[in-house]
Amino acid sequence: MQYMTLLIAADHGGYALKQAIIAASTTLTCVDLGTHSSDRVDYPFYADTLCQQLIESPSNTKGILICGTGIGVSIRANRYKGIRAALVHDRVTATMASAHNNANVLCLGGRTTSVETALLLIHDWLNTPFEGDRHINRLHQLDADVRYLV
Ligand code: RB5
Repeated sequence: MQYMTLLIAADHGGYALKQAIIAASTTLTCVDLGTHSSDRVDYPFYADTLCQQLIESPSNTKGILICGTGIGVSIRANRYKGIRAALVHDRVTATMASAHNNANVLCLGGRTTSVETALLLIHDWLNTPFEGDRHINRLHQLDADVRYLV
């Protein structure tokens, strides 16, 4: 895998999984953007924090967002121009998120996905190249006529 920086953020529903991913990611540079405890917080803030930083980051940077289900953070993240956030649950969707959608943010559910599965999904997402070709035009179509937050 090429050198990669991972921004990672979670709400309280994803806090434990975030900590486990950081602990297991010994060969990656992880930048922990919070939350820093299991106290209840609001997930849009953490999605905003990560997306705003990712947009300003070099291209070898990607993001992982985690809330209880992964749904809330994925909805918010996709409101940013340049963010393609994919909520994945299995190795097929994790692989396709890269191969077909060139997703730069992976969304996970801290209450729906085990640590072991999450690590496999992250591995597949990071190690699958974007296929380009016919998918490039589809990504342009995804961005057409959209009003973004920024
Ligand atoms: C918080 O209880 C929960 O709603 C949040 O983590 C997430 O699952 C929202 O989509």
